[in-house]
Order: sequence, then structure tokens, then C-alpha cells
Amino acid sequence: MSSTPRLPSAGASVSAPEYHANPTWKSKNEAQQVDYPSAEAFQSVMAKIGRLPGLVSPNEIDRLRTQLASVAEGNAFLLQTGDCAELFDYCNPEQIQAKLKLSLLMSLILIWGARKPVVRIGRIAGQYAKPRSKPTEIITKVDPATGEATKHEIISFRGDNINAFSAEPASGRIPDPERLLQAYFHSAATLNHIRSELASGLADLHAPRQWSFQHVQSSALQAEFESVVDSLTDALDFMKTIGADTSTFSSSSVLNSVDYFISHEGLSLAYEEALTRLVRKPTADKPSPARNVHASDLASGALDNETLERYDLSAHTIWLGDRTRQLDGAHVDFFSSIRNPVGIKVGPSMKPQELIDILDILNPDVPIPAAATAARASGWTTPSGAPEVVYGKEKGRVMVIIRLGAAKVATHLPPLLEAIAASNHKDSIILLCDPMHGNTQTSPYPPASSDPNAQPLKTRSFGDIISEILAFLQIISSDFPTLHLGGVHLELTGDKDVTECFGGSMRLDPKDLERGYKSHCDPRLNFEQSLDVAFLLSHYFRNQRLGKRAGATASSDEEIKKQQAIIASGSGDELLAELICGITNRPQSA
Ligand code: PEP
Ligand code: CO
Repeated sequence: MSSTPRLPSAGASVSAPEYHANPTWKSKNEAQQVDYPSAEAFQSVMAKIGRLPGLVSPNEIDRLRTQLASVAEGNAFLLQTGDCAELFDYCNPEQIQAKLKLSLLMSLILIWGARKPVVRIGRIAGQYAKPRSKPTEIITKVDPATGEATKHEIISFRGDNINAFSAEPASGRIPDPERLLQAYFHSAATLNHIRSELASGLADLHAPRQWSFQHVQSSALQAEFESVVDSLTDALDFMKTIGADTSTFSSSSVLNSVDYFISHEGLSLAYEEALTRLVRKPTADKPSPARNVHASDLASGALDNETLERYDLSAHTIWLGDRTRQLDGAHVDFFSSIRNPVGIKVGPSMKPQELIDILDILNPDVPIPAAATAARASGWTTPSGAPEVVYGKEKGRVMVIIRLGAAKVATHLPPLLEAIAASNHKDSIILLCDPMHGNTQTSPYPPASSDPNAQPLKTRSFGDIISEILAFLQIISSDFPTLHLGGVHLELTGDKDVTECFGGSMRLDPKDLERGYKSHCDPRLNFEQSLDVAFLLSHYFRNQRLGKRAGATASSDEEIKKQQAIIASGSGDELLAELICGITNRPQSA
């Protein structure tokens, strides 16, 4: 007698024509919903996306899950980086390669300091949707003949997958579902280029000198980077000589190729649902890799007795924004129904208990077969006749992305960490610091443009960004010995001549921001500022590592306190000068 496939815990019965549907989130309130003029047109686009192939594979997602488990255990560092909002226009080889190279450069610097593998996740190949605080905005139009200015209320820009950035004509701001289809194809083209660049050896760590860092203006920083590359190249040569350059962290040698995963904010739930598919999990008796289930498999009964799980194949991982993380809302429900690792943004309004309640939903205790515990990579299915089943949390399933702002981190971070440390999530979560979103400010300089709609620029101080990261590290290391910083979540760009955040090693002044302000959303770190952050972290981890080895763990904390005193007394530039000085004066060995 055959039995039906074992479905995901959400428990919805799944019929063949809608085999990737899970209706439970649809009955809940969905924040930031978009009003489309035609429900039929929207449904027809969703049906089309539902028939298209997934953008990533369940196997790749499982591979990320394994690597994130390592991050949760403190054995790897996570670097999640990219644009605030991607535009379809960014889908070109130059911009994709620039972002990929910058991520690789930063991870090289981090590996050098921390001596840990770095898991790279891009905010790329799908980071199109943006949450907005107001659904409309007021613009001014000037009649060219009379010079008369009138005010008009138009729909806010919601991201390239929803409406047009340009306010002219205003009809471009009407949500158009075809843009979601465009988003799918631009994600596919971007991801295809990432895969082809990686397959062509862009990431070959044996040739780091190919990676350009000529934009770095500070000679101290450039010299430092060259010396890091020299030591890395020496180390790689040595390992090659002794035949040790293989690693189980990557499918091939980690030194020859690297993984790069993609992510975006999971804002448009209908789009995410359309790309969510049931996947047959490997079991002890059928250990072949996770693979997609087709509607015809379900209809034929070929999957009877198999365990099926929902994977969102729009990206390897998606995150819940600070505006869509309501405990009883549709987003939390949808995120809990997929097997991908997920992120959650945590801003100053999050209450500690609320965070734990959300984590309980996103990462409930699941049965972990003893065999699978030992070999995490094999997935979560109970092998038939498994001797012991233990219950526990999946390590690395949730990335808690904290974005409080430099001014609030000292007061708001400890209660959140106390709640986590006291909960049964403490060993499974990944703590990420997003030092960008709590530090947005308006430039003190009025816009130079004569456009009546020009607004003062949104910017971020490099000093605030560093200050938040350093405070995060210091609070954890002094008061929360059972927790650790798993990684950073940064908005940055590898594009040339960008001036959106001020400060940093190129000593950008706020009045120079207009020169290269290209973001259509939040201000990003530019190339030099991104490397500055990587050096800062690398330097911290290196000190911690060497300090620990020498039995003197206080050294890095003292240094942080000194750096924080400099921030309190002045600008981020002084801090950076100190940082670079600290790096270049370091002993050359180890
Ligand atoms: C973002 O990451 O671009 C964003 C909107 O963040 P948050 O949800 O933290 O405000
Ligand atoms: Co942003």
C-alpha cells in the first residue's frame, strides 16, 4: 500500500498543479503590499514565474547551510555585501565583476587576519524591492513657459521590480507586474555572469595580484594591502609545495575556487512563493542529493513515502526587513515555511522577548537524526529506522542582522544579547552587525543642483560605521563570552569614483559627496572605504588570535577602547589614521 509524500511541517495539502503553494502566509497581514492596477495581470505574471526554473539549486542552498553552521560554531566568518537597491541597469559585466572582486578582496584580507574561511553572500542578483516608510511623495513641477511651480503627489519608488525610479512621467510610478518578470530575468543574467566569472578563475587565490587595488589613495593602506598579498602568496606557495592546498570547505580546493552565494530582502512574497518548490530530501537509503520535485512526479505517485521540503529558489538566502518582521505577519510565516537559511533585521524598536518569539518561529526544534547530526550536510530527513532522534535547533539557520546605529548600540545591544544568551538559540544563531542602516543622516550641505526636487543627500559617516562595529565587538567580548560576532552586513559598491559616505582612508569631506553620488537608495561604502572596514576587522581578529596565543587576550580590547576614545573626541578620520598607523607599525611576522 502506498502512502502520500511527507510534506513540510506547514502541513498544507499539495495538489499537482500548485505543488509549490503553501497557503498559510496568505491568510495573514502582509506589510508593504503593492497595489497593482490589474489583479489578473499580476496573477498571470506569477503563474509564468511559477513555471520558470528556480534560479539557484537546492544543493547549493544545502551547501550554504553547511557553511553557515560553521559560522554559527565560530569556525568561519560571514561577509554579506552589496547594493542597497540594485537597478536592472546594474546587470552588466563591469558592475557585476567589480562587486564580486571587491567581495573577494575583502575576504582575502579577512582570511589573512582571522585565519578562518570566509562565507561570501552578495546582496545581488535580486536585490530590487525596497520597503518604504511612505507610499507617496510630493514633487515640484516648474512650468517652463511661466516659471510657475506646482506641487504633485506621486507614488514612491518601490524598487526596479515594482515601478520606475524616474518621477517623469509620473505614470512610470504605477506598479507594473511585468517588472517582476524582468526582475527574474535580470537576476538570472546577473547570476549567470557571477557563475561564469568564478568558473573562469576570477577567484583563483593563487593569482591575487590580478586583483586591482589601484584606487586606494592612501599609500599606507596600499602598502599594507601589498604586504598582505605578499604574505598570502607566500603562504599559498608554501602549501602548494608541501601538497597541502586542499580543503573540505569547498567542493574543489578552496584555494582554486570559491563559493559566492546570493541574497536579497524577501519583500514581495508572491514572487518568493512563485519560486518556492518542493524538494525531495536525501535519506540514508536514498542518499542522492536534494533535487526538485516536478508536478508530474507528484501526480504519478512516484514520490510516495518520500520527505519533501520547501526551498525558495529565488536566492540562496533571503532576509526579513526591519519593517516586515511582525510576529503575526505574513512575512514571518512565509520565512518559517522554507528550508533556506534566513536573515532578520533587528532595529532599535525590537524588544528582546519579541526577537526570541520570532526566532522560535523561524527556527523551532526539529528532529535531528543522530546520523545526520554527525554529517550535517546530509540534510534533515529521518532515515527509515533511525535509531535515535534528538530534537534541536538547526545551526546557522537564522542570521540576526543587528542595525542599531552608533549612538544606540551601547544601550540597545546588551538587552538583545542577554535575551539570546539566555535562550536555546544561543548556539544556533549567527550574529551579524549591519553598521549601515542605523547610521543614515542628511548631509549638512544643500543640494548644488537647480532641480526643484533635489533633496539634501542621504549619507553615512565612516566614523559612525566603524564605531558601531567596534562597540559591537567590545560588548560581546567583554560581557557575552558565550556569543561571538559571526560576520558583517554592509552596503557597498565596487564601482569607480563613488562618494556617498564621508570619511575613510580617502578622507572624503561631506561637501564632496555630490561629485560621485550614484546610489538610488541608501549611501554605500566605496571601494577604499570597504577595504578600510576589511582591514579594521582583519586587524582586530589578528590581534585577538595572536593575543590569545600569547595568553594576553586584553590587547585587542584595550586597543578598541583607545580607538573609541578617539571617536568620542573627534572625527572618524582620526580613528582611521590611528587604525592605519596601528596596522603599518605592526611586527611583520606571523
Ligand atoms: C536594507 O537592508 O536595505 C534595509 C532596508 O534594511 P532595514 O530593513 O534594516 O531597514
Ligand atoms: Co539600505
